[in-house]
Amino acid sequence: MELRLRLLLAALLCWTCVCCANTDRAIDPSNSRVWGPGVEIPDRATLPARYFFIEPRDAESKKINESQKYDVHIIGQSRFGSCRYRLSQVDRHDGSSIIRYKLAESCSDVSIHVRHNSVHLSGSPFVIPGTLYSEQCYCPQGSVDEWLETVGCPLGDPQIDMDLIPFRAINFSSLRTRMIQQYDKPGSISHCNYVILRNQVHRRCYGQHTGFSKFMDTILLSLARKFTLPDMELFVNLGDWPLVKKGGQSRTTGPFPIFSWCGSDDTFDIVMPTYDITESTLENMGRVMLDMLSIQRRGVPWAEKHPRAFWRGRDARRERLELVALARFYPDLLNASLTNFFFFREEESEFGPRVAHISMHDFFDYRYQINVDGTVAAYRLPYLLAGSSVVLKQDSFYYEHFYRKLVPMRHYIPFEADLSNLLQQIQWARDNDEQAREIRDNANAFINANLLPLDIYCYHALLFKEYAKYIVSPIQVQPGMEKIEQPDEAYHCPCERTTLPRDEL
Ligand SMILES: *[C@@H]1O[C@H](CO)[C@@H](O)[C@H](O)[C@H]1NC(C)=O
Ligand SMILES: *[C@@H]1O[C@H](CO)[C@@H](O)[C@H](O)[C@H]1NC(C)=O
Ligand SMILES: *[C@@H]1O[C@H](CO)[C@@H](O)[C@H](O)[C@H]1NC(C)=O
Repeated sequence: MELRLRLLLAALLCWTCVCCANTDRAIDPSNSRVWGPGVEIPDRATLPARYFFIEPRDAESKKINESQKYDVHIIGQSRFGSCRYRLSQVDRHDGSSIIRYKLAESCSDVSIHVRHNSVHLSGSPFVIPGTLYSEQCYCPQGSVDEWLETVGCPLGDPQIDMDLIPFRAINFSSLRTRMIQQYDKPGSISHCNYVILRNQVHRRCYGQHTGFSKFMDTILLSLARKFTLPDMELFVNLGDWPLVKKGGQSRTTGPFPIFSWCGSDDTFDIVMPTYDITESTLENMGRVMLDMLSIQRRGVPWAEKHPRAFWRGRDARRERLELVALARFYPDLLNASLTNFFFFREEESEFGPRVAHISMHDFFDYRYQINVDGTVAAYRLPYLLAGSSVVLKQDSFYYEHFYRKLVPMRHYIPFEADLSNLLQQIQWARDNDEQAREIRDNANAFINANLLPLDIYCYHALLFKEYAKYIVSPIQVQPGMEKIEQPDEAYHCPCERTTLPRDEL
């Protein structure tokens, strides 16, 4: 839902920030750390953009917090000659950098050279065995279990465990027709029934607004290029609101298994990473430019940020109007304005005027960021947590797939759903600057441990692996389903590892 905002911001984004630091302390190449899937397992973790981190250290192994310029080269062979790639450096606000590279085609005999002032950093050059496949290449490598292990995904997730508790024996032979009838409300609900069989994706959608099925198609096809998906059948809700209410019908028939992008405390929907963060994973260094890596770009240093809270967004919920009203009374604490009126148009004169969108990077000129629900959870939360400010989050019964792992006062500062203690919490952050900054650091670390592109793939893989185990009905392509094809490029690449015949396709 913040997609439009993100596309707007894209243009304003700096990719390859060239930063030349005038460092007091000399960086010691052999003590500096270079790590991440892009240098450790680039042959196994086939990502749209591969990435790794550089943390500069001095001779005493102390972190250097000034930004540095690194010289990164990839040498390798492709069937067109030397390996072609695009590369970008995201200079973070603590001296460390993220390096991303996107291969134009599959490459082999690859080595990755990471230098600072022409000296190799620790571990460089990284010599990569095997082939680095382009993400577009259809080249599934074993089963989902094998893939999860090969790339080192977590073994489980508390949200997945919770979500699947009610679904221990899913029998679509008896559920399918009832589910389609229950959600046959074309004006208000749109959903799709998917069948994955022999690593091919089939679906049939119901409702008027089925365009969002492309997000689901894209992630399923992308997963299928990496490993063999378990055979399974699933229903995906394409709307904002979770559908499977607790109590009522769920009590008598048992809840229906439905996948949604947003969950809530009063529903049984099985939560997936939002289409927003999934899209930014799939289109990393591609069409979408604001993602979990680029958002980490260095901005105004903490000490120079305005010591005020900041918020921009549209009028998707009453509390957002109240936030704007609060900002009028307390401009020293809070800068909040609406960028669009849609739900409360008749109140524009009172809560307007609307202001222009600004780049999310500029949000971080302010030390405190406010996250308030929109129609459901605000899908910007991951971006705010990844930035250089501290987040104040509204209490809410809506959640995304990772909220369960967030801890209030460790990763963000909470405030009441009705905003009643928001001003106190902003004041607390001002009075406890060290702690606020520490919460910011914890949030950044959380993002880098849980929400980077590989983590988004891991979550989907783990979720579908666990879910598929509980289906007891036969997996069969249903009448009226269409087959969703891989992009053409998928088969125009040599693939040496696949275990599946590519052309019983
Ligand atoms: C870097 O660290 C030093 C000492 O730890 C500190 O005084 C300085 O403010 C830091 N600089 C930045 C840009 O954070
Ligand atoms: C699934 O439901 C169908 C139709 O009600 C029934 O015939 C079948 O035995 C069920 N399968 C299992 C494994 O319970
Ligand atoms: C609120 O923020 C915008 C964008 O940074 C700025 O132009 C404006 O002057 C701020 N308003 C107040 C009252 O400080």
